[in-house]
Amino acid sequence: MVKITIENLGKKELEVNNTGNTVLSCVQTHFVDWMHACGAKGRCTTCKFSVLSGNENLSEMTHAEMRYKAVNELKEGQRLACQARVMGDIIIRVPHEVKLPHLTYTD
Ligand code: FES
Repeated sequence: MVKITIENLGKKELEVNNTGNTVLSCVQTHFVDWMHACGAKGRCTTCKFSVLSGNENLSEMTHAEMRYKAVNELKEGQRLACQARVMGDIIIRVPHEVKLPHLTYTD
């Protein structure tokens, strides 16, 4: 069992049984709304998140993530939720530019 903490959603904690799933899959399993405009195909950056802790507990960057990082669409410490797989505890936050208007963020 691993834990995903979403810092700016009131430190919401999600307990994940199946490590190896994507962050997007995990948040959706817990009914947390998350932007994912391209349908989790690695073709946009709307699912991005910032890693505050536990970067070592995420899978290696995919080609899609490296492509966006190269053009600065992903900043240092940011990952795509539809690409990054969870292997252990992480603490993340939703960047301002991809926040959903109907959710209340705590930052
Ligand atoms: S949903 Fe588009 S890159 Fe993740």
